Parts: sequence; structure tokens; C-alpha cells
Amino acid sequence: MSQKRIAIFDTTLRDGEQSPGCSMDLPEKVRMARQLETLGVDIIEAGFPIASDGDFAAVEAVASECRKVTVAALCRTSEMDVVRAATALQKAAHPRIHTFVATSDIHLEFKLKKSRSEVIEMTRQAVSMARNYAEEVEFSAEDATRSDVEYLCEVLDTAISAGASIINIPDTVGYTMPSEFSRLIQIVNERVVRDRDVVISVHCHNDLGLGVANSLAAVEAGARQVECTVNGIGERAGNASLEEIVMAMKVRADKLPFETAIDTQQLYATSRLLSTIIKTEVQPNKAIVGRNAFAHEAGIHQHGVISNPLCYEIMTPESVGVPANSLVLGKHSGRHALGLRYSELGYSLRPADLEAAYHRFTDLADRKKRIYDQDLIALLTPATRADWVPTAAVTEAPRRIAGVGLM
Ligand code: KIV
Ligand code: ZN
Repeated sequence: MSQKRIAIFDTTLRDGEQSPGCSMDLPEKVRMARQLETLGVDIIEAGFPIASDGDFAAVEAVASECRKVTVAALCRTSEMDVVRAATALQKAAHPRIHTFVATSDIHLEFKLKKSRSEVIEMTRQAVSMARNYAEEVEFSAEDATRSDVEYLCEVLDTAISAGASIINIPDTVGYTMPSEFSRLIQIVNERVVRDRDVVISVHCHNDLGLGVANSLAAVEAGARQVECTVNGIGERAGNASLEEIVMAMKVRADKLPFETAIDTQQLYATSRLLSTIIKTEVQPNKAIVGRNAFAHEAGIHQHGVISNPLCYEIMTPESVGVPANSLVLGKHSGRHALGLRYSELGYSLRPADLEAAYHRFTDLADRKKRIYDQDLIALLTPATRADWVPTAAVTEAPRRIAGVGLM
């Protein structure tokens, strides 16, 4: 099966950063942008320049620093917005102006106070103006999934005729269902894109926990750009999570014959960097990057994993970048080294708990070659685990204890 290329549009620095508790200062945004470039995203949406001087400066700085990726700046449809975005992108090697307007009746009536024909005109003007500044213009129909489909198609057609080469269909309020969204993407493809050289993009929020499922359904239906964020941060319940989308396509390539340019071994480091910067941990059971994502607590699972990891692991920790550790536990240093690692991970064990954990550890180490921090955590009793306090070590990548063997 030939693999079709999906562009990854990262909006961690814009949609993600604008959500409560996720703000970043300029050096942090640049640091994150550099890591996103290393990760291999195709587009970094670096900010909304009209929103604040900080956003303007961030777009400018990311555009100067990141020369390999496309750098996008968001703007509404007014002239001032478009010019501000274009100015912030002046130094970009590959600039993209991303302009948007809402298309649902509820937004038109209560937010924009505009008629349908006025919004069509705003779309035409904004896209044409943006094309005077940038070759690449993306148009988003905000609240597309609650818009009248005929009208949505008319607005998208206007944007394409005015020069947009990427049309984005956001599920702004995280309302749609995979089958419904898939049908919408097919309709847009058949009625609007037809044989024109235009990319359909999707941008799914996670209010019903369906952001990733909806994005993947859209890709199967013809979307070729996915907008997403690291750790799924974003407005309200967040955006579709980058790491989940990428790994779903990689692990289930049999069902999803698509490829991205993401270096999946950078996923963990990218997630850790973001958590460190915004001082917010992902939930322990978060898919792909959660601290328990590869831990096997139940004895029956441990047994299966030891015999053959494929029993319960559909991807290896290494494939997402959980790095190895050179710590070797020996007969004499065992308890001490183990206790030290536990305290680095945020668990200070009383002597009796350490003794019990040590026995469970040696038992596991006898049977399992690679022991991860997640395994160590799983060896603790629930009461000990509940006493966890965040430490510097858990903001770094968890490490694998390699070469374990009791002498
Ligand atoms: O959720 C949304 O609709 C957006 C657009 C600006 C793309 O973030
Ligand atoms: Zn959004």
C-alpha cells in the first residue's frame, strides 16, 4: 500500500499557548519552536500577532530562528489583522498567513453580527489581501462543523478562488463525530476542492474526547493536513494530540496508510520540554507520553511482557524516545541505587517499603531485561505511589535501567 503524506501543522504555540496555564515567554516559545523543528513538524503556527505584542514578537522570532519549517501567523479578516500577521512573518523563510472567520449561523448572529453575504465578502477580501503578502495562504472556517454545509462550501469556494491553497475545517467546539466529520470532508472534497490543487486541513478540539478520532477519520476521508498540539494542550479540553495522531498512523499503518515527517523518537523529549516550560504534567495514563504509558502493573501483564513484549505492548518505549539509562544495580549497591532512583522520581520510601520494593524489583529483574522507570513505579504499593511529589527527574525523560542483573 503506498503511503500518502500528511502535513503536521503544530499549533502548540498559538492555540495551545492561548489556553489557561499554558503561557510561555519569548525565549520559551523559541526553545519550543526549535524542538518542534527537530521533531519534524511541517508547519509551526507561532502566534496571533494582532492579539498582543508578545505574540507578534514570538512570530517574528520563530520566523527568524526556524528556517526549515513553514511558519504560520493567525489573523482575522480585517486589514489591520492581515497586515500585522504579514509584518511579523517578514523574516520567515517559508511564511504562511492563516486567516479565519466563523461560518456558523450562531457565530454570525451573536459574535460577528454579520450576514452570510458579508462573511463571504470578508473572506474574499482577507484572502486576496493576504496573497499580496504571502504565496501561501490558509483559510479557516471557524465552527465549520456547526455551519450549514451548503454555506460552508460557498465560503470555502470563495477562499480558494481568492487564492487560498489550504482550507481548514475546524471542529472549533469539539462537537462532531468521526463518521459525520468524515462525510463532511468527503463533501468538501467533492464539491469544493474537486481537481484543484488545494489541501484540506482539519483542526479538532477535544471537548468530547474525540479530537484524535475525528482527525484520523478526516485523514481517511481525504484531509492531508492535521492541526494538533503537543500533549494535546489548547482551548478548553484542548486540541487533538500530535503524539497520538502520529503514533496511531505509525502503529496502525495497515489501516492508515499515511506517513508524516515526524521523528517519533523525539516525541517524548518534546512532550517533556513542553511540560517543563508550562509547569504542567500530562495525566499519568496519557497515551504515548504519560508516565504510565508503558508500565505493566498487573502480574499477569508483567508475565506476558516478559515472555514477549508484544503480548501487551503495541509499540516500544524506544520508538517514542524513552531513552536508556546506564545505571546498573548490583548486589551491594542494589537497595541504595534503587532508593536513589525512587527519590529522583519523587517517591521517598520508608526502609520497609524500600525493602519490599527491592524484592519485587529483583524478582522482576531476573525475568525482564529492560526495566523502565514506569516498571519501578508499578512495583510500589498504591499507598506509596500516592505520596508522589514532582521532582526534576520526572521532568526529564524517564530512564531505562539497562544491564540489570544481580551479581
Ligand atoms: O478552533 C478554531 O476554530 C481555531 C481556528 C482559529 C483555526 O482555532
Ligand atoms: Zn482551535
